[in-house]
Amino acid sequence: MKAIVFDNPGDEGVLHLGEAPAPKLGPGEIRIRVRATAVNRADLLQRQGMYPPPPGASEILGLECAGEVSEVGVDVDGWRVGDRVMALLPGGGYAEEAVVHQGSAMHVPKALSWEEAGALPEVFLTAYLNLFMLGGATSGGTALVQGGGSGVGTAAITLLREAGLRTIVTAGNPEKCQRCRQHGADVAINYRDGDFSEAVRKATDGRGVDVILDHVGGKYLAMNLDCLAVDGRLVIIGLIGGAKADINLAMLLTRRLQVVGSTLRTRSNADKAKIVAYFMSQFGEALSAGRIKPVIDRVLPLSEAAEAHRVVQSSAHFGKVVLKV
Ligand SMILES: NC(=O)c1ccc[n+]([C@@H]2O[C@H](COP(=O)([O-])OP(=O)(O)OC[C@H]3O[C@@H](n4cnc5c(N)ncnc54)[C@H](OP(=O)(O)O)[C@@H]3O)[C@@H](O)[C@H]2O)c1
Repeated sequence: MKAIVFDNPGDEGVLHLGEAPAPKLGPGEIRIRVRATAVNRADLLQRQGMYPPPPGASEILGLECAGEVSEVGVDVDGWRVGDRVMALLPGGGYAEEAVVHQGSAMHVPKALSWEEAGALPEVFLTAYLNLFMLGGATSGGTALVQGGGSGVGTAAITLLREAGLRTIVTAGNPEKCQRCRQHGADVAINYRDGDFSEAVRKATDGRGVDVILDHVGGKYLAMNLDCLAVDGRLVIIGLIGGAKADINLAMLLTRRLQVVGSTLRTRSNADKAKIVAYFMSQFGEALSAGRIKPVIDRVLPLSEAAEAHRVVQSSAHFGKVVLKV
């Protein structure tokens, strides 16, 4: 099959369209004839040799895809050849074929195009897991999302709005802030204007937010904790701003704060199946109705994966960069 491959880690230029063996189908798995996949920040790290796939996962890049089921393994329920499917992958999306455990797959509603479906699983399930399952986001609460213009950030805005939370986001320039507001954020703060925690306190009349989704890590830890209301939860999913920080732990005690870290990719098939099932039970109706879809920045052919990585690396995008297979 055709796939994006690279011989050695490096910059975007190492990526090229080549040949790779089709993945083997195991029990409980389905084979997907991939129509679309999308770029995630983690793909850039893997390409640079800094984020190896979990044991047993494909070495090919790509954490999500959509397409038709082309083969069904033993012990699979509810999937037939020809079904439209979108799936969370531990790797292997930048290719003509991918295999995935049935629990990581979702039926594609009529409301979604291939490009939209291929860009949905990783960012929406990440936003769902971390804000709702781990962060306890509930209707009537207030959330802060760092990087509101990212793939995960735009998905988070959609889910929070659908679930009835007030949403505050940060982004790196006025245009992205404006687009976040147009997409449904109630407040958007340009983090380059200074300490965002002051703006968050002001926007919440001094109360703070109930949950924060953060991908910056060390550099933001103290400011994030300053933004939390009593009993607030900070969920850290990335360390773009470093892994170390020096903070005063007293505020964790006095304001009863929780700090949680999480990764999605390394979780077991059973864990992922649970996340998919919970996501569908809370948001399945909105998904079918077309109220939940990713923001697509642009669609490029699979052969232009290198250019897609350049765009994401530059942070010029808003939402998702999709690869059409
Ligand atoms: N733990 C997990 O399970 C998990 C799963 C998925 C994603 N993630 C993480 O979540 C984050 C978002 O992923 P994604 O694929 O949606 O990424 P993405 O679309 O590439 O967006 C990342 C955004 O981060 C912002 N950014 C870049 N450098 C920054 C810096 N130094 N400080 C603050 N913000 C910066 C940029 O927005 P601005 O232009 O506004 O600065 C950029 O658009 C990534 O860090 C990714 O690794 C974690």
